[in-house]
Amino acid sequence: MKLVVCVGSSCHLRGSRQVVERLRKLIEENKLEDSIEFSGIFCLNRCQADRVSVKLDGKYFSLLPEEVDSFFQDEIMSKK
Ligand code: FES
Repeated sequence: MKLVVCVGSSCHLRGSRQVVERLRKLIEENKLEDSIEFSGIFCLNRCQADRVSVKLDGKYFSLLPEEVDSFFQDEIMSKK
């Protein structure tokens, strides 16, 4: 799986750092380092979204830091 989090300025203001930290922790806790390619990008061209832009295997999501756990459960754990 390929997971990209936007860390550009608009997304930074909406909490991308917390999103990245939480995702990194969840990947570690679930020992998924080998199956998820995790990276940051400086803009996903979705700055108009009101949350942090995230792309998972080509599909776009928009997340608040507090939504990361349910995103991880629904989109990653249930599909791996
Ligand atoms: S800064 Fe995040 S989508 Fe543009």
